[in-house]
Amino acid sequence: MDTLETAKKIAAYKAVDEYVTPNCVIGIGSGSTVIYAVNRIAEKINENGLNVICVPTSFQARQLIINNHLTLGDLDTHPKLDCVIDGADEVDANMTLIKGGGGCLLQEKIVASCTNQLIIIADHTKNSDRLGQQYKKGIPIEVVPMAYVPIKKNIQDNYGGTVQIRMAIAKAGPVVTDNGNFILDWHFPFEQEKSWNEISNEIKLIPGVIEIGLFVNMAKKVYFGMPDGSVKIQEFE
Ligand code: 5RP
Repeated sequence: MDTLETAKKIAAYKAVDEYVTPNCVIGIGSGSTVIYAVNRIAEKINENGLNVICVPTSFQARQLIINNHLTLGDLDTHPKLDCVIDGADEVDANMTLIKGGGGCLLQEKIVASCTNQLIIIADHTKNSDRLGQQYKKGIPIEVVPMAYVPIKKNIQDNYGGTVQIRMAIAKAGPVVTDNGNFILDWHFPFEQEKSWNEISNEIKLIPGVIEIGLFVNMAKKVYFGMPDGSVKIQEFE
């Protein structure tokens, strides 16, 4: 296993070992790092017979839960979650996150809003002082398809940078999310006058914007797998 994959794995295993307890209800995030978390949850259940209910944040997460023979739950039956374990594309010094590199930001934010314990697992390349320092793919914004051009123009005119519709790779045309929407990736200017909280709140008010992949004041703790095999923890005192 290469260093980056090892970093994802050690972060995921540590978070699961510290947060997954008997009879807990967990939100399962999306992406490549979460795969290791689900593997570890399955191992713990097999070893210790824990009773754990897993609420997915995407089609991918649902498949992971099913394929690992974990108990699938949803927000109808479990609107309050003990914790959510999810990845991130970038984490800044204030624990503001960029999420949605995998296009799952809407369900990820909904599920994250149902817990006081959003636990992030990531490799060291996601650890930044400022957003945009390491992650160069922009901030994902999920939008209603008919509104993507005016939203793109609005953001470029009012906040600068460039906005691109995310195109699919194994399909002609745009990425269509699990919710039937498009994704815009906003390549924002590195210098911002406003706070991420202000920007996030303002962009969410543009008609047709469903959700933005900025997670402000949501993460409780971040586990970064480091190149030397250690896990660095970021949290507020
Ligand atoms: C998907 C996400 C993921 O959590 C994020 O992209 C990180 O993924 P990975 O663990 O593969 O780096 O927000 O929408």
